Amino acid sequence: MVYRVIQWATGLVGQEAIKGVLAHPDLELVGAWVHSPDKVGRDVGELCGLDPLGITATGDLDEICSIDADCVVYAPVLASSRTVARLLESGKNVVTPVGWIYPMETPKVAELEDACRRGGTTLHGTGINPGGITERFPLMLSAMCRGIRHVRVEEFSDIRNYPTESVVREVMLFGTPPEQAATSPMPAILGEGFMQSIDMVAAGLGWTLDPEKRTTHEMAVATRPLDTPVGVLDAGSVAAQRFTWEGLVDGDPVITVRVNWLMGEEHLEPAWRLDGQRFEIAFDAEPPLAVTFHGLHPPVVGEHPEIGLIAPAMHCVNAIPYVCDASPGIKTYLDLPLLAGRAAS
Ligand SMILES: NC(=O)c1ccc[n+]([C@@H]2O[C@H](COP(=O)([O-])OP(=O)(O)OC[C@H]3O[C@@H](n4cnc5c(N)ncnc54)[C@H](OP(=O)(O)O)[C@@H]3O)[C@@H](O)[C@H]2O)c1
Repeated sequence: MVYRVIQWATGLVGQEAIKGVLAHPDLELVGAWVHSPDKVGRDVGELCGLDPLGITATGDLDEICSIDADCVVYAPVLASSRTVARLLESGKNVVTPVGWIYPMETPKVAELEDACRRGGTTLHGTGINPGGITERFPLMLSAMCRGIRHVRVEEFSDIRNYPTESVVREVMLFGTPPEQAATSPMPAILGEGFMQSIDMVAAGLGWTLDPEKRTTHEMAVATRPLDTPVGVLDAGSVAAQRFTWEGLVDGDPVITVRVNWLMGEEHLEPAWRLDGQRFEIAFDAEPPLAVTFHGLHPPVVGEHPEIGLIAPAMHCVNAIPYVCDASPGIKTYLDLPLLAGRAAS
């Protein structure tokens, strides 16, 4: 069986997903939605730097809903549950890296469940971090341990690989004084996803967490002006940030999710170091299993940022056959079978 796929948004994740769909033996690309008016009407292959595919991009939701397709890879910068509901109601399954990894019961989630029932469709939230490293893989690895006391999941990234000034400076607040960066919306924005990861790991491992999770925000400043892909960061301004979210039992952490984002590792105070970009998962358990993921970051800092988006895009794409075959509703990794990629053809 070949599943017919629509790509929603052709940013970095969307373009990598399109390449993934084209390379997948069980998938066929049949449409794409774009946000920018200048991309409407253009060939989707061209938008991705590929040869023409004979598929024209549209900016119209109704047009997308009318296409005969099995699944939408939903990857816009701003998610809309109303749009996702429309897609689900129109009979299209949805896989996405923008949320719903392990959603709490809320009226909006109930609306999406209703849309799934009406359309006979499934919604699956995935990604890399969250959506993979922070819950799927800890849960899988935990099957090799006993007496699990603590799980730590940690990202170590050079933020120079993210050249989008509007996000890095204006949302993440790199380059601002520490007192300004302390007001960053990032703990809340990122926390929304990572709290779901923590809840999912707790559900899988059998922890009843305290109602409140703990969030910590640490910073390091530049000791001299730093020349970066998002411009010069002044001496004394924030040049590295570390966010930690913890699930607690009786006030003690049992699940720790942390991201370390450094603008290089020189001229920082405190003198933080990355010691290589990577993701880590570590158990305080028997045995004390620890796994490090390499190869998910762009190998040369500042070059080809899209390499870092292949994994979240492929986690979406490779989920499609399993999501299309699932029963209707919001399905997490706790519901779906083991997902696999596909051999090169
Ligand atoms: N869970 C994970 O691990 C993970 C990992 C990576 C990314 N993500 C998420 O995936 C999404 C896409 O990331 P990306 O790297 O592809 O971002 P990106 O390169 O910045 O692309 C953003 C896309 O969103 C579209 N867009 C811009 N403004 C929009 C609006 N107001 N409403 C709807 N769409 C809009 C853009 O359309 P045009 O191209 O037409 O301008 C573009 O296709 C983001 O939400 C990101 O947070 C999640």
